[in-house]
Amino acid sequence: MPVVRFYPTSQALTVPHGMRLLDVCYDAGVEITASCGGGGTCGKCRIKILEGDVPSGGGHDGALSKEELAEGWRLSCLIHVESDLTVDVSHIVKRRDQILTDLIPFDLVPDHGIYTVNAHLPEPELGKTLSDVERLQETLAATSAVTLNAGLIPYAILQSLPQHLRQSNGACRIVAEENRILTLLPAQDGDDENKPLGVAVDIGTTTVAAMLIDLESGHPLAVCSRVNPQTRMGDDVISRIAYARKGTSELKKIQSVILDALDAMVIELCESSGRQRENIARFTLAGNTTMQHLLLGIDPTPIAQAPYVPAVRDHVVLQSGHLQWQAMPGAVAEVLPAISGYVGGDIVAGIVATGIDRTDRNCLLVDIGTNGEIALASGGVLYACSTAAGPAFEGARIGQGMRASTGAISSVKWADDQLTIGTVDHAPARGICGTGLLDAVAALLHAGLLDETGRMLLADEMEVESDAAHSMAVLRMREATEGRYFVLAEDSPDFPDSPGCSEQGIVCLTQQDVREFQLAKGAIAAGILVLLEEAGIEPEDLDEVLLAGAFGNYLRGASALATGLLPPGVSLEKIRPVGNSALAGACAALLNRPVRQRARDVMRKARYVELSGSMAFQMAFAETMEFPVPE
Ligand code: FES
Repeated sequence: MPVVRFYPTSQALTVPHGMRLLDVCYDAGVEITASCGGGGTCGKCRIKILEGDVPSGGGHDGALSKEELAEGWRLSCLIHVESDLTVDVSHIVKRRDQILTDLIPFDLVPDHGIYTVNAHLPEPELGKTLSDVERLQETLAATSAVTLNAGLIPYAILQSLPQHLRQSNGACRIVAEENRILTLLPAQDGDDENKPLGVAVDIGTTTVAAMLIDLESGHPLAVCSRVNPQTRMGDDVISRIAYARKGTSELKKIQSVILDALDAMVIELCESSGRQRENIARFTLAGNTTMQHLLLGIDPTPIAQAPYVPAVRDHVVLQSGHLQWQAMPGAVAEVLPAISGYVGGDIVAGIVATGIDRTDRNCLLVDIGTNGEIALASGGVLYACSTAAGPAFEGARIGQGMRASTGAISSVKWADDQLTIGTVDHAPARGICGTGLLDAVAALLHAGLLDETGRMLLADEMEVESDAAHSMAVLRMREATEGRYFVLAEDSPDFPDSPGCSEQGIVCLTQQDVREFQLAKGAIAAGILVLLEEAGIEPEDLDEVLLAGAFGNYLRGASALATGLLPPGVSLEKIRPVGNSALAGACAALLNRPVRQRARDVMRKARYVELSGSMAFQMAFAETMEFPVPE
């Protein structure tokens, strides 16, 4: 079998003949970006082959130049390993992604229906036909007024019950949820370690966050997060669906990577809090509709085809054992309900977490990912829609776009005639993430280097308001045959060239990036305007604008208004970040049965507004693509 060696780590892997080099990289822990899911179109998975037979393919569709191909650069998703190779991955840094686990505070009295009771069963008697289960039922009914449903006793508990009772002289402790036994424990006073636990999960397209909760107190015990490992199968929902629809084995694979990741996260949560997985009584999960389908191993293909129908909208409750997660024998996993194929359980969770399903005020909730999921509460009615914002805010389709991880430009400010750039972890700039993109466009608009159509202006085209802005344009606004670009940072570590930007060692915003941004922000703003129109209110009437998700949480409201991501009329004071509202909603639903019911009510009652083919949306989009004229 061929051996693949990595430079500069010297790590070596022996791999089967024909294995895709991208997968070899992942197996070696190389965090390669594969925005298009291995489709050979994004150009982000490039590596350089230093030794071995350099395959002739691997530079599909002009993603690599002739010079780069001659130097040994290839797209790792298009290369299959047939002989020993040495691969340079020195341009791929180990990233530390910023993942949002902040929650809005919610004050809920636990009401999850899970409880622990001790029981001491009488000795079985000769001549009486009562079984162990019946004696348990009778004892619990008499001492704790608990009615157990014998038909719902997990198989594993039935198998262990006889021995358990005889070894303990009839003493036992059970954890039950309403009338179902979840687990059987030795009789003892409940110590902290054996208290029932719950796990709430937000499965985002890009990142996954999970929280371990003590179900008795309702207190969080530990939180963890990681990049969704499905990103190797595509950065966005559509490329994941494309991957899953290739066949049954691909669907199984994309399901198993998320199940395995969640399993590993639960282990991490338990280890960091000194708790046992065997004490987990319930999992509650929220994600967009496609992530929820993939978690359940359900083919999401129809979600990508008109009329975009999901297999299931309602909540799904199944034994956690079906998902191969270790927990109490009777533990269940609940996947929260969705509103439509593109308004998922994550936004439903956000709605119940923020309480906009119960407000009389005009409240807008916007969760911006590759789709902008938008909910509006007005006049006691909930409206919801989803707009295809595209992945620009997650760093995809932006020449030097990247996720919010080490080295990403995350803030850009033009104030007091000074340009200030901030990066994640204060590391040298390597690329630009969503908040950096938004800020950069706002800064260029503010300084007069962008006009309202989105055209980048050279120094001599500016209607100059300040000498400093003019000097900045002279220094940083450049033009190449591919188009104009604005230099955000120089002396940057090696980074794949940005389309439209031929200089090495810089991070820049190109004219094409601005166009991608306009498409994305225009779609969000147009979606908001359509919902407002449905409700018969104006942006000025909004009492609150709640921004959810990592991008929404960290973005600067002033930049969102300056660029028109939020429509004119929205006031800055009304904008409020709400953290990871999907995780907050999953926690609330885990802890509280009425919240679960509210989530189902939201699914049933929300008025879904379809934007594809909507003339109102098209007209709004044509306007919102442009930038507001700076005041
Ligand atoms: S080109 Fe290889 S993953 Fe996109």
